[in-house]
Amino acid sequence: MSVHNNIRKVTTHQLHEMKTRGERISMLTAYDYSMAQIVDAAGIDVILVGDSASNVMAGHETTLPITLDQMIYHASSVVRGVDRALVVVDLPFGSYQGNSKEALTSTIRIMKESGAHAIKMEGGEEIIESIKRILTAGVPVMGHLGLTPQSIYKFGTYNVRAKEEAEAAKLLSDAKLLEEAGCFALVLEKIPAALAEQVTQSLNIPVIGIGAGGGVDGQVLVAHDLFGITQQFSPRFLRRYLNLYDDMKGAVQQYIADVKSRDFPNQNEQY
Ligand code: KIV
Repeated sequence: MSVHNNIRKVTTHQLHEMKTRGERISMLTAYDYSMAQIVDAAGIDVILVGDSASNVMAGHETTLPITLDQMIYHASSVVRGVDRALVVVDLPFGSYQGNSKEALTSTIRIMKESGAHAIKMEGGEEIIESIKRILTAGVPVMGHLGLTPQSIYKFGTYNVRAKEEAEAAKLLSDAKLLEEAGCFALVLEKIPAALAEQVTQSLNIPVIGIGAGGGVDGQVLVAHDLFGITQQFSPRFLRRYLNLYDDMKGAVQQYIADVKSRDFPNQNEQY
């Protein structure tokens, strides 16, 4: 029997064991109670309360506008819907870049006010002091390298990162720094598959990829993309398992028609 089926509550330690055993780790986003219940009941290992909520839930163009208060609201809703998964919350842009004290204060608010189990931060060497300070306070930290959407205005595009040798070398060295500092896992976003595999093989901590190929220890997607609720976002790495946008739109159109034609409610749907 796989580790997956035995686990009552997923811990960072169990994720490490999964890597050791070669069992792939599954991770998906959720931003609310109902979605978290579905994803958790299905047996996902890790739920990420991503700052992609800024795009998916609030309709912003980037992840930059979402606030710490809003992330705490999303995270506490998710935590109430979860029995088994490890819940990881993104530190939003502007809540940790100032200094390590600010990073710790933001983290403590997330942990106290949402009940989540870990936090995720974008960046390598430049945020290492903050990561160390948070870890000293006993909070597990997940790193995030490659395409880091909070830096979109520095990159200028959402294209694949670290294709050039210098950027690839910096990513590899940052990944090692994050592991040495004590991060329990690392997300690699939109980088060449060969580089992601090299990073994965050179680290003992689990590496979770999004658009980083199959040579990593696990995969993460935005749940709304997987369900086909979001429509405009169609990167090569995305596999859509449903087309809920069309199904939901069709259901609403049918409801409107039923109301207009007085078919709804019928005799059995009233008191
Ligand atoms: O915010 C998010 O959803 C993420 C994933 C894409 C990894 O950071």
